[in-house]
Amino acid sequence: MSRVILVAGTGSPAGRAVVRRFTELGDTVVAVSRSGGDGALAVDLQDATAVRELAERVGAEHGRVDGIVHLVGGWRGSKTFADTSLEDWELLHGLLVRTLQNVSLAFEPLLRASENGRFVIVSAKAAQAPTRTNAAYAAAKAAAEAWTLSLADALKGTSSAAAILVITALVHDGMRAANPDKQYKGFTDVDDLARAVTALWDQDPAAVNGQRIDLTA
Ligand SMILES: NC(=O)c1ccc[n+]([C@@H]2O[C@H](COP(=O)([O-])OP(=O)(O)OC[C@H]3O[C@@H](n4cnc5c(N)ncnc54)[C@H](OP(=O)(O)O)[C@@H]3O)[C@@H](O)[C@H]2O)c1
Repeated sequence: MSRVILVAGTGSPAGRAVVRRFTELGDTVVAVSRSGGDGALAVDLQDATAVRELAERVGAEHGRVDGIVHLVGGWRGSKTFADTSLEDWELLHGLLVRTLQNVSLAFEPLLRASENGRFVIVSAKAAQAPTRTNAAYAAAKAAAEAWTLSLADALKGTSSAAAILVITALVHDGMRAANPDKQYKGFTDVDDLARAVTALWDQDPAAVNGQRIDLTA
């Protein structure tokens, strides 16, 4: 039976790679981005009411959800710690934390009901190794990780799991074409990320639940 997968944030190369991978595997993908287009629904995931309506719509149309891949990103840094802008914190909180909160709260009942569900975020090494130049970003990613681990705790004993994939940075063919001499050492290719996402179904939910899986190792 094909899975029903919600991919949140499909407009980037990473989002497109994840949608492509699930589609190739024969799954049904519900793609969401802020602006929509390319088959994606336009939903502002910072709007809790809009996300609850999305969950009702997906539940009504598909009857279930077997996977949620949260890919809404964003980055801001500063020259020094004291230069950190709290406006950047507000922005990153909205993108990295609030969208995750809205999606997980609205979709948890559907995920819990799945016979083999997975919830995944893509975090960054910075969350566990913050530096003076990325305080807002590292704190937002750390919050996203803690939130996801709370969801994992809520899913204990069910047939579903929540997990964190950890990367340093993403790379895709367009970046390589634009900068052919660069090695992109330590970067994760978006197609490898997509494979790591679908590989979460290769293990039992209990083995995956609450795990931080380092893709740079
Ligand atoms: N890129 C990296 O090097 C890197 C490094 C570490 C971790 N990560 C993580 O990897 C994941 C994917 O990264 P990425 O760089 O591909 O992400 P990204 O380019 O920042 O993702 C943007 C996607 O999120 C959508 N989006 C933004 N705000 C939204 C909202 N309010 N409602 C609905 N959709 C919204 C955008 O919609 P539109 O298409 O309509 O604009 C777009 O599709 C993220 O979790 C990111 O934090 C990335």
